[in-house]
Amino acid sequence: MTQLAYHRSGRGAPLVLVHGFPLDRAFWNPLLPHLEAHFDCIVPDLRGFGDSPATEPGYSLDDMAADLSALLNELGLPEAFFAGHSMGGYVSLAFARGFGNQLLGLGLLGTQTAADTPEKKTGRYDTIEQVKHEGLSAVLDMADKLTADSRHAPALRAIIHSQQPAGLMGALQAMAERPDSRSVIAALTVPVVIVHGLEDGLVPIERAREMKAALPTSLLKELPGIGHSPPFESPEQTAAALKLLL
Ligand code: MLT
Repeated sequence: MTQLAYHRSGRGAPLVLVHGFPLDRAFWNPLLPHLEAHFDCIVPDLRGFGDSPATEPGYSLDDMAADLSALLNELGLPEAFFAGHSMGGYVSLAFARGFGNQLLGLGLLGTQTAADTPEKKTGRYDTIEQVKHEGLSAVLDMADKLTADSRHAPALRAIIHSQQPAGLMGALQAMAERPDSRSVIAALTVPVVIVHGLEDGLVPIERAREMKAALPTSLLKELPGIGHSPPFESPEQTAAALKLLL
């Protein structure tokens, strides 16, 4: 278990915001003002990102979910809503699998339940090698893929710039080895909201529609003109959708 750095603000039902790759809790800054009147927002840096320490690669998304369970315990919170962006969605689904009794509801933002294809998996291990040799510069260009609006790219690039190579490598391996989570979403009995940009170039909209099909009681918001990062690109629409969890 790794002790996580976190930010906490707002009042209301506890909501854990789980960032994606290769980002940290700063990703949520545009969204927080829209949520703080409704939720007690708990905003961690995942293991190896932001101010949270990196550990030796070889850990799984389940281990990253266990870090979040330990954080809730540390805060004396028996349960919380979760909203995960992309890799943060994979971690949130791992949390639902391992710690479902602590989950009040789930927001899945620009994410998917599908595991990596063999090609994607190979690409992740190639990226690990690149990070090993080139450091952060191997992933800096991801900033352009994280948004459909190039005006957001410099801010996202700045967040990527403050990450630790060891954390990137550990998370890439954890993502490559993650299982398919379709059965996890299908079994959920808590409220689920799915938010996805129609211009998402990293996780196509079909992945969101598959999640909706796996859990027909979930709510799917498809956002025109928005790319891979709805909370960053359209915080208003993302917050409106997350409030429907309450
Ligand atoms: C993310 O935004 O967290 C990543 O693009 C997810 C992934 O690489 O599958």
